[in-house]
Amino acid sequence: AIERTFSIIKPDAVAKNLIGAIYHRFETAGLKIVAAKMVHLSQEQAEGFYAEHSERPFFKALVSFMTSGPVMVQVLEGENAVLRHREIMGATNPADALAGTLRADYADSIDENAVHGSDAAASAAREIAYFFSDEELCPRTR
Ligand code: CMP
Repeated sequence: AIERTFSIIKPDAVAKNLIGAIYHRFETAGLKIVAAKMVHLSQEQAEGFYAEHSERPFFKALVSFMTSGPVMVQVLEGENAVLRHREIMGATNPADALAGTLRADYADSIDENAVHGSDAAASAAREIAYFFSDEELCPRTR
């Protein structure tokens, strides 16, 4: 089925000038960008987005990293988009990521791992709504 998923190009990848390269991977894989913006997250925004991780030992470092510079946030649309996007990203830890995935090619560590993607349809809906209003989403009709 056609799905939507949520994507972040994290501060490390933005700093390395990889926005276009990463967008190219999405588009080559048949995922369409239906909303996008650059944002420098506040501490409150980052803490709220990652609230499910608030008790994890890496939470402070995660919020600090995610607020260290601008990110690109986007909504991707396509067949089986949640899983397709996760395949393109590769494993959370770049040391475990398959060759040719975004994390294998562009991430330095599990903390600075270039990209984020929703892990399921329910989290995709929540994460999209966290950053985008309905009017900001541009469904593709051609
Ligand atoms: P992300 O998909 O953005 O979701 C939470 C982030 O926490 C994750 O990517 C990693 O960059 C980071 N992180 C750091 N340590 C861990 C860990 N042990 N397990 C999962 N995520 C971690």
